[in-house]
Amino acid sequence: MNIRVFPDQLGASIYAAALIEATMTRLESPVLGLATGGTMTPVYRQLVDFHKRGLSFAHVTTINLDEYIGLSPEHPNSYRAFMNENLFRHVDVDPARTYVPSGNATDLEKACADYDVIIRSNPVDLQLLGIGVNGHIGFNEPASGLKSNTHVVELTEETIRENARFFEDTESVPTKAITVGLQSILLAKQILLLAFGEKKAQAVRDSVRGDISTSLPASFLQVHPNVTLILDEAAAALL
Ligand code: F6R
Repeated sequence: MNIRVFPDQLGASIYAAALIEATMTRLESPVLGLATGGTMTPVYRQLVDFHKRGLSFAHVTTINLDEYIGLSPEHPNSYRAFMNENLFRHVDVDPARTYVPSGNATDLEKACADYDVIIRSNPVDLQLLGIGVNGHIGFNEPASGLKSNTHVVELTEETIRENARFFEDTESVPTKAITVGLQSILLAKQILLLAFGEKKAQAVRDSVRGDISTSLPASFLQVHPNVTLILDEAAAALL
């Protein structure tokens, strides 16, 4: 694992955006695996800035990691809305080539299977990841077993509590989500995991230095040959 520590989020976000830009300019049809959440907003801000200076997304396909179940794409707290708001509507990406799981599909099993077909047809070149305080990646929560493919997941109380900051109150946070599975994440050619703030320090430490365990899904990144951890000093404090 490569580990890069920056004094603050800004430096870390610029570095991450520059690596994404390098992939976008190197490849003819790059596929980016994308994440949502507070960690990603400064990265997308940098990418929008790069776009204003000439970086084109016209040849890019994006595949998001997850979506809440029960929220329509138009719901302001859906991950589709997050992506539109923070990145897609500011750049020249083809909306038809931006994939986010369908959290309001009537047949969720089919929605998961369909998403796996999309992932298999568009192998991810670079996967962007955040990490939960409990070590989740995507919404692969700590459990006694982990699923390899896209699936419906029950969110843990900890995740619901953490994500309540984006909602009016804890009761409004959906309790279930669709997430791509661990195998799909690990099949990406390159992975960037970003973590900011002291709240993430323990999960970062355990993921890098601890045993590989389903109770800490991010620990599986240890088996991937091309992972870069991009941290601020607070998130790196226990390494
Ligand atoms: C979101 C996702 C999650 C977040 C993680 C960290 O698409 O996949 O794993 O990356 O929960 O969230 P923040 O950045 O809000 O701390």
